[in-house]
Amino acid sequence: MQKKEINIVCEKNNIPYKDLRIAQIKGARTLEELKKATGVCGECEACKENLTYIMKVVCGCNMVTFDDVKNQLDNGLNTFEEISKQTKAGTTCGHCKALVENIIKQGY
Ligand code: FES
Repeated sequence: MQKKEINIVCEKNNIPYKDLRIAQIKGARTLEELKKATGVCGECEACKENLTYIMKVVCGCNMVTFDDVKNQLDNGLNTFEEISKQTKAGTTCGHCKALVENIIKQGY
């Protein structure tokens, strides 16, 4: 999967990328949870194109996925610093730090 620049996730309901990441930081993981938290329709072409990426990638700068973070947790790492050192998540712009921290706290 390649890095994507996304501004509007859902064109039908005009939902910005930031709203999805905030919902994930608050714990939304599934499509149904993201729909409820943000109002994305999940069915328009933009949703089909963007939601898979958003639900898979935690850190776009370094292409770190939810699975990558989960694997680090399964390996016994449990701080942002440890996971960042192993995956590079959070080492560029830092915008993903809150999401990585939520995954550590809440789980995948
Ligand atoms: S999104 Fe993770 S460092 Fe930029």
